[in-house]
Amino acid sequence: MDATVPAQHAPPSATTGGEVVLRTIGLSKQYGRITAVNNLGLDVRQGDVFGLLGPNGSGKTTTLRMTLGLIFPTAGEIELFGARISDTNHRRAALKRIGAIVEQPAFYPYLSGRENLRGVATFAAMPSDAATSRRVDEVLELVGLAPRAGDAYRKYSLGMKQRLGIGAALLARPDLIILDEPTNGLDPAGVVEVRALIGELARGGTTVLLSSHLLHEVQQVCTRVAILKQGNLLAQGEVSTLLAASSGVLLGFTDPAELPRAAGVLLQAAGSEAPWLRGAGYVPPEPGAWVPPGGWLVRADTDVAHAAAINALLARHGIFAAEVRRYEGNLEQYFLALTGAEGQTPAPAPAQAAMPVVPGASGTIAGAIAGAIEGGRA
Ligand SMILES: Nc1ncnc2c1ncn2[C@@H]1O[C@H](COP(=O)(O)OP(=O)(O)OP(=O)(O)O)[C@@H](O)[C@H]1O
Ligand SMILES: [Mg+2]
Repeated sequence: MDATVPAQHAPPSATTGGEVVLRTIGLSKQYGRITAVNNLGLDVRQGDVFGLLGPNGSGKTTTLRMTLGLIFPTAGEIELFGARISDTNHRRAALKRIGAIVEQPAFYPYLSGRENLRGVATFAAMPSDAATSRRVDEVLELVGLAPRAGDAYRKYSLGMKQRLGIGAALLARPDLIILDEPTNGLDPAGVVEVRALIGELARGGTTVLLSSHLLHEVQQVCTRVAILKQGNLLAQGEVSTLLAASSGVLLGFTDPAELPRAAGVLLQAAGSEAPWLRGAGYVPPEPGAWVPPGGWLVRADTDVAHAAAINALLARHGIFAAEVRRYEGNLEQYFLALTGAEGQTPAPAPAQAAMPVVPGASGTIAGAIAGAIEGGRA
């Protein structure tokens, strides 16, 4: 959505491996003939900013609604804070530790942001005392609405309304906050604001579970993601791992004859002197980039930190690249590769037929990322 923001890798979750806050086991939901969620196994840990990703209709909202006990699974189990919510007593206790916006929060248009939050606090059975009043102001500050707290809700921008919703979900100091498409409908500035707020919540120790179909945006705020398609889990893992698995180094050569030599050296080294290399292949340059004679670049599948080492490796074999460029992975590509939608990207060069052949070279991103997936295809 906001393509102007440079891609940044979300910091790896410092608490990965911590307490499991939410686990789903074989979770399924059937609506007549529609399987909205199929045998889903999620694993959200304390400190995660966990992204539930997938296109429209992939089962994100259905999963979140089941987690919140708003609808019941057809099969499978949900554990919150270590116990199953099929136990009604535990469900009640667990839900008190969760703040959520899944349905559009209903605020009174003519009441101010502060008055609306006080109403939410009353509804949540928080005492109407000075402490609650202080908490309301604290939350308004946290979501950046303190200067506009006295304005009527109807005068708020969409981004401000969304932040008030998040504020409402935060009032009772939840251990887990669940946000369904928190940036839906926001302009790029609104997206940045909400993303910054989510980052702040995470730094404050709140575990966040959010859903989104905007992969680029999620990449910048989430530590872990699960990718859904038509109710099935395609992959689950650390964002940094998934991104590293689709990043690499691109090499251009002025003499096309160098292409197979370079790719051959890289593939050979992958199994021996450069164990950090996952493989190599050919790719067409992206639009606007330098097109070398012969029309192709060599891609070394490795962490971008090895760019200089790749250069040195080739130089040791008397091969000198005219261009060495880091190639950052992104979740969009990762998703397209996983869902087999790569064919939707513009068809590469007519020079395809002239592409040099290297046995074993990984030609696709899908090939490059295979093996980096924690949760397999369901
Ligand atoms: N109450 C319902 N009755 C019948 N089918 C439903 C119901 N709720 C959801 N579905 C179906 O279940 C599937 C998953 O829907 P869901 O809303 O969970 O997807 P989503 O990933 O949240 O999509 P979006 O990105 O559009 O919000 C869809 O095919 C949807 O039509
Ligand atoms: Mg939805």
